[in-house]
Amino acid sequence: MPPTGAHIVGGHLGQTATGGGSSYETHSLRDQVVLVTGASSGIGEATALRFAEEGCKLIICARRTDRLNELKKKLVEQYEVPVHTATLDVTDSAKLDEFCSQLPPEFKEVDILVNNAGLALGTAPVQENSVEDAMTMINTNCTSVVLVTRHFAPGMVERNRGHIINISSIAGHYGYPGGSIYCGTKHFVRAFTDAARHDLVGTDVRVTAISPGAVQTEFSNIRFKGDGAKADAVYDGMIPLTAQDVADSVLYAATRPAHVQIGDIILYASYQASSFSVARPLKDKQFSSLDQLAKQTSQK
Ligand SMILES: NC(=O)c1ccc[n+]([C@@H]2O[C@H](COP(=O)([O-])OP(=O)(O)OC[C@H]3O[C@@H](n4cnc5c(N)ncnc54)[C@H](OP(=O)(O)O)[C@@H]3O)[C@@H](O)[C@H]2O)c1
Repeated sequence: MPPTGAHIVGGHLGQTATGGGSSYETHSLRDQVVLVTGASSGIGEATALRFAEEGCKLIICARRTDRLNELKKKLVEQYEVPVHTATLDVTDSAKLDEFCSQLPPEFKEVDILVNNAGLALGTAPVQENSVEDAMTMINTNCTSVVLVTRHFAPGMVERNRGHIINISSIAGHYGYPGGSIYCGTKHFVRAFTDAARHDLVGTDVRVTAISPGAVQTEFSNIRFKGDGAKADAVYDGMIPLTAQDVADSVLYAATRPAHVQIGDIILYASYQASSFSVARPLKDKQFSSLDQLAKQTSQK
């Protein structure tokens, strides 16, 4: 007999959760092992926090150890979940392999893999691309996704349970000037995700891409190599998505019932309609903070 709160879905035990009086049964994530790459800031950090809220065991990795330790403290104190941290540069394939193969026993069976670590560097036109920046983007955004997925997908298939969630971008849906490499890497992530879904179609392993538009994180500071004015200009006069907005889409995909597979979620800020279409109706107004700007807008 299945335990209470579990039912047979597509050949495996799919934990379900009801609550809050909803008549729709979602997928319980309690005690699932979730690996989030690039968890030291932005979308990765917000995603780790949301999975912890659901009672998941977290593996978090990135290059900045201090940030990971701060996040671990928060996850353990606020949600009392087991957390494993790893200082890791995902472009170092030998270290990446070592990290994947040497996880502590409690964390070895990854149920949900969030391939999030990624970056854009510069906005050079194609004829002026820096080869070094291009290789860093390709290795971070593409190669690491292939390697980490190659490591954990076999276990998911063997257990007939799991979810691979890749953070793509609207840059994976359209090209834009100055984005030849970044857009190329995110198109790769989207195509890789689609093809992986075809490979795994006979299993209960789900594969999802999440494609956000403009999100205010450290992303633009890194793209413009610390030039705060250029980074701020990206969000000038509009209200961008937050990392929490994107984490919410990740959680949405992960908590659908086991027979539901979200293929891709494209999410935009309300003032954005595509890579090319951003309205900046608040541009001439003076605001001291994003919060203040959001408040004034909601009072309109
Ligand atoms: N912000 C946006 O507008 C936007 C829109 C669409 C998609 N995305 C995608 O969302 C994902 C997260 O970006 P974000 O906006 O949250 O930016 P972010 O705040 O800069 O976070 C990027 C994360 O990736 C990690 N990372 C970068 N290079 C790494 C490496 N070599 N090894 C390990 N970790 C690495 C960073 O950690 P360390 O620096 O500590 O290593 C950081 O935790 C990226 O894939 C990005 O392409 C962002």
